[in-house]
Amino acid sequence: MTGTAFTVHAPGRVNLIGDHTDYAGGLALPCAIDLGITISGTHQQGRVELRSDALADIVAFDLDAASNIASIQPQWGRYIAAVAQELKSAQGFTASVISTLPTGAGLSSSAALEIASALSFGFAGSPMDLALVGQRAELAAVGVPCGLLDQLSIVFGRAGYAMVIDFTDNAIEHVAFPDDLDIVVLHSGQERELADSQYAERRAMCELAAERIGPLASASTTDINSLTGVMQSRARHVASECERVRQAAVALRDNDPTTVGQLMTQSHASLRDDFDVSTSVLDELVERLNSTPGVYGSRLTGAGFGGCVVALSERGAISDPNALSGRGWIVHPSDGARQLAP
Ligand code: GLA
Repeated sequence: MTGTAFTVHAPGRVNLIGDHTDYAGGLALPCAIDLGITISGTHQQGRVELRSDALADIVAFDLDAASNIASIQPQWGRYIAAVAQELKSAQGFTASVISTLPTGAGLSSSAALEIASALSFGFAGSPMDLALVGQRAELAAVGVPCGLLDQLSIVFGRAGYAMVIDFTDNAIEHVAFPDDLDIVVLHSGQERELADSQYAERRAMCELAAERIGPLASASTTDINSLTGVMQSRARHVASECERVRQAAVALRDNDPTTVGQLMTQSHASLRDDFDVSTSVLDELVERLNSTPGVYGSRLTGAGFGGCVVALSERGAISDPNALSGRGWIVHPSDGARQLAP
């Protein structure tokens, strides 16, 4: 019997400003982008078989074996098995995956794979539940206690809009992205392994700080100064980053890219000095971008520890992003994850 045909797409995301704030109940200003993951195939009962355009290996497992996530090879199949587990899906698929997203680059390739596979399993719940499935699958697949930034950006993206996300209640406000600006993304060439990185340690430190002084997103300077050492620096980053997101959202609405760019560059300094998640390659890319005519500001984007930097520029200021870092893109705010016609 032939299963029903499907095609789904999940975009990546770039975070314009507001990193390491989501798990602290703070604010971020990301958008979904026009790089992403498309899965196309037919449904079949009880089994997943997925080929990738980029990787030679095939993910193949029976759904009743999906609970043993750590046994799934190749490793990228663990995200799919984790989603299957979350959904308790009896329906699988035979499909192929095409990705235009670089992996381990801070553009949410793993979250895009989670969301695209949930749609491939036939997920039919609410968009918020779709995002939550992706977040839980990330933890189950690779043990990363991520926030909801990536999944919400990917699910709720809208072409032509960035979004302000308030993680106290996951409220999302779409903000029109001016069409005379470019979002430039440059790859550092350093692949980031969140599971191996100090992401969980940073999160735990923020939670400890919040136990002492309350929510970091609204902490005062006096609160922050009552902490000491590294904990004080980490808390200062979260509090100051949330304030920068508030100001950047106002400036974006006012079509004031100069202010948005300055805030982005300040965000990079805070991620570098207070949160200690930058690398010398990322710092150097930010400096190179900021000395390029027409660039308003730039910063590392995502978790850091390698991956990409993002810059805001006048339209056309950087005609060939590859020339600046070897690998780069001009990306556009795009629609969120969706079914496409088979
Ligand atoms: C990763 C995580 C997100 C978020 C960012 C940093 O992308 O998956 O939840 O914490 O890092 O802002």
